[in-house]
Amino acid sequence: MAVEQNRRDFIGMALGGVTAVGGVIALGAMKKTWDPLPSVQSAGFITVDLSPMQEGELKTLQWRGKPIFILKKTADMKKNENRDVVAGNSNYTVIIGLCTHLGCIPTWIPARKEFSCACHGGVFDASGVNTFGPPPRPMDIPPFKIDGEKLVLGEEGPEYQKLTAKKA
Ligand code: FES
Repeated sequence: MAVEQNRRDFIGMALGGVTAVGGVIALGAMKKTWDPLPSVQSAGFITVDLSPMQEGELKTLQWRGKPIFILKKTADMKKNENRDVVAGNSNYTVIIGLCTHLGCIPTWIPARKEFSCACHGGVFDASGVNTFGPPPRPMDIPPFKIDGEKLVLGEEGPEYQKLTAKKA
């Protein structure tokens, strides 16, 4: 009798174990189905940790197929209330790295602290503001949100709304 009882307990536990493992596998499969494809993720939001950046360093990355420049400003670079992104105690220039003339990708020239466009000689200052040549306006600021010392590209946070409101 006791042996029969133990056998039933064992079968019950074994079945319970199989069910639990099956459940975990099914949940894993469901999560895979729900997770966006990597291509969708890269097209949407990107989180960039700004804390390891050195003053004067330019970081270039791609977001929604466009180059993004992130420049950690040095103390001697002119502050721009209408464009500077403030994270922690530092000011950053965050811009879509496309010349506003005909869309070439400007190059950062550290010695001159400006962006230079080789296509027709356009020049932008360290804040991405056009200072010379045919570009008709500053380089665009992508939508962003600040989360501590992290920059989330693709999300319109209050800091982005403040900057775009100032420009209007
Ligand atoms: S595309 Fe940059 S100056 Fe013409």
